[in-house]
Amino acid sequence: MYVDNASVPARKPMTVPGLRTMKAQGRKIVMLTAYDASFAAQVEAAGVDVALVGDSLGMVVQGHRSTLPVTLEDMAYHTRAVARGLHATLLISDLPFMADRDLPHTLEAAARLVGEAGAAAVKIEGAAPHILDAIAALVARAVPVCAHLGLTPQSVHKFGGFRIQGREQEAADRVLAQALAVQSAGADLLVLEGVPSALGERITSAVDIPVIGIGAGPHCDGQVLVIYDMLGITPGKRPKFSKDFLAGRGSVAQAIAAFAEDVRSGAFPAPEHCFD
Ligand code: KIV
Repeated sequence: MYVDNASVPARKPMTVPGLRTMKAQGRKIVMLTAYDASFAAQVEAAGVDVALVGDSLGMVVQGHRSTLPVTLEDMAYHTRAVARGLHATLLISDLPFMADRDLPHTLEAAARLVGEAGAAAVKIEGAAPHILDAIAALVARAVPVCAHLGLTPQSVHKFGGFRIQGREQEAADRVLAQALAVQSAGADLLVLEGVPSALGERITSAVDIPVIGIGAGPHCDGQVLVIYDMLGITPGKRPKFSKDFLAGRGSVAQAIAAFAEDVRSGAFPAPEHCFD
């Protein structure tokens, strides 16, 4: 069996500036993870705006307890596979743990994922000074950057687990300051994970770049989920911020289409998927 998107009606390819236009127009952005060509083709066919090859693949594909063991080789392999399944959906790929250890490694990782594997942008976690420098260096080389703040999974040991961030006033102010800093460094997009809805709303209105939430409330400019979570096939307990869109539906295609529709209409996330 091979992946054939020839039968999928053509649509205009999504671009990084196109996402900013969507924010300006108040149109919600739909993002889903994908790790292989077959799921990528489903994401493409459903008209999802952005596919993310997340290093969550370390947990949901490789079975690790965190994203930390994922290598650049792993990211390049899965990014190449997903790129083959896409046409109009924009592809973003994660810089894996420690790809930010110094600028040459960061640039090399971006060259592999964007130059060779076919991503249009890379995602990088955090807002430490060296991350801000890395964002600026990537953007200066015409590599679009998606920042990632809040519950950044690569900091799991520092956080003491996958814990909601920004609950206290001081912590919330810090995440807001980080969002403004990554924007100033040149980030094109921001994934905001695991923060109270009120903070998601504050950050989304404070920055011009699109904010894609995951457990960050309904006010973000878009929503992203791990595809296996929203199909209800991730082993263990479903995360509170996710929803099983396959339940009661007949196919993966219908589940992804329902997710896209609910994000665009604002029906997802509902209060039960959000944090105070
Ligand atoms: O790795 C990943 O899949 C992610 C999403 C959860 C945003 O970073």
